[in-house]
Amino acid sequence: MTDSVQEKSELLDVFRNAMRHVSATVYAVTTSHRGQRYGILATAVNSVSFDPPSLLACINRDASVHDPLVQEGKFCVNVLAQANRDVAEHFMIPTAPDRFSVGNWMDVAGAPVLESAQSSFVCRLAAIHQFGTHSIVIGELLEARHRMDAAPLTYFDRGYLDIAGATEH
Ligand SMILES: Cc1cc2nc3c(=O)[nH]c(=O)nc-3n(C[C@H](O)[C@H](O)[C@H](O)COP(=O)(O)O)c2cc1C
Repeated sequence: MTDSVQEKSELLDVFRNAMRHVSATVYAVTTSHRGQRYGILATAVNSVSFDPPSLLACINRDASVHDPLVQEGKFCVNVLAQANRDVAEHFMIPTAPDRFSVGNWMDVAGAPVLESAQSSFVCRLAAIHQFGTHSIVIGELLEARHRMDAAPLTYFDRGYLDIAGATEH
């Protein structure tokens, strides 16, 4: 394989456009630290293994949730449902004084859990890996909740896709 000859700016443009056209479930990654809640919207989340049950999230080191999450060593990955669009839209307002004022949030094992989320995974921070601007945080599950009667909030091309009822088996 030869070294790439594509200009870096062009590479980034193509990458951005390509990723915009990948549909992604929207998550709220949250933590509590010293009595305060923190959270961001994220799409860079995935399961890692069933043994041990674990998942990863890629968190920008500049994001407000990053340092509290690392210091607390605990976080929750809330899989947002289509009915949680109001929560997602509120999280996206950078100047919102309290991101947790929309939706019913409760504390489970010390992390903010959205009651109406499709699923919520409370994790202990098991490993962290730095790459570029982000930390890849790996969480081992402490508590999990799931509801069958929800469809995931799905981000696509800077908007939301309605995928309810779209499954075929
Ligand atoms: C749809 C969507 C997906 C996002 N995914 C991620 C992500 O996976 N990781 C991340 O660090 N930030 C992600 N962000 C950006 C964060 O939600 C947040 O806006 C940014 O980190 C600034 O957060 P702060 O104002 O709390 O510092 C995403 C934003 C949107 C709108």
